[in-house]
Amino acid sequence: MKMISRRDFMKASAVVGAAGVLTACGGSSSSTAASSTAASSVAASSAAASTGSANVGVCIYQFADNFMTLYRTDLEEYLKDMGYAVTIVDGKNDQNTQTEQINTFLQQGVDVLIINPVQTTSAQTIVDTISPSGTPIVFINREPDKAVLDSYAGKCCYVGADARQSGTYQGELILETSTQGDINGDGKITYIMCKGDPENIDAQYRTEYSIKALTDAGKEVECLYEYLDNWDQTTAQQDVANALAQYGDKIEVVFCNNDAMALGALQSIEQAGRKVGEDIYLVGVDALKEAVQNVVDGKMTGTVLNDDVGQATAAADATKLFVDGKDVEEYYWVDYVKVTTENASQYL
Ligand code: BGC
Repeated sequence: MKMISRRDFMKASAVVGAAGVLTACGGSSSSTAASSTAASSVAASSAAASTGSANVGVCIYQFADNFMTLYRTDLEEYLKDMGYAVTIVDGKNDQNTQTEQINTFLQQGVDVLIINPVQTTSAQTIVDTISPSGTPIVFINREPDKAVLDSYAGKCCYVGADARQSGTYQGELILETSTQGDINGDGKITYIMCKGDPENIDAQYRTEYSIKALTDAGKEVECLYEYLDNWDQTTAQQDVANALAQYGDKIEVVFCNNDAMALGALQSIEQAGRKVGEDIYLVGVDALKEAVQNVVDGKMTGTVLNDDVGQATAAADATKLFVDGKDVEEYYWVDYVKVTTENASQYL
């Protein structure tokens, strides 16, 4: 019998939820091709007001990001199910490219912009570019400063997950192991950290809170090195290979700010002949399918579900509130979930 995974289940309920909202508002349920572009601003806005349909522009910082690929696929599906015309563009990890894309969307007169900024530090400039047009903004995944949201109050919001929670869960995953992270029994947990983009609050908080969970539990810790791996699998693979060559058995835990980097770390751990769960621990964040499979197979100590379904649903719902001219809150938060050997199969 085929089990329905939690992600699939959440996806199914999210779609039903979205359809429910649509029916309640009496909008059209026909979807439009992703490649379709927005019509002129005035026509588009008045059409949106009268029929509930709208043109939505989505700016993703980089299509080549594993997690953002899951997220944007969900988002496109939910927005189309709401009857909106959706155009999604790839910022190619370049803020100038994304800024041009935003300007193009503005010229086309989209009704709402969903923005996953390339550089969070550019969020204020993004708001200043968009605000004269009055176009609402839903920021996703990369949290801008509150002052940025405040500067366009009522017209912009942030949908995300509190990265402190994911970091804490990573630390707890290590505390829940049989040695509580101290494999060699020397009284301290010795680790390396593979970090995401340093500008990103998710990377900063995961780095800080994973270790805080250990020290809050009274553990002594020693950081051998923090590697700047920019969320990237290959970079982490190389850095962890070097770390294993340099520090050897001293490394008891490899913390990775995301699963892509944990997958790279695992390749190097296996190449070095080390065994997760026996002589080293490895944790990530996102619950990418491949990582969850590794947890099931005992090749990763654990991961943390970064709920793409929940966040995409919340972002689509916020978009709908803007289209319908309803009040929108400043923040929408979606919980992380700890993924261990006990519950991992639900997330495959
Ligand atoms: C995810 C990373 C992803 C990043 C992109 C984070 O929340 O955990 O996998 O690369 O967002 O901004």
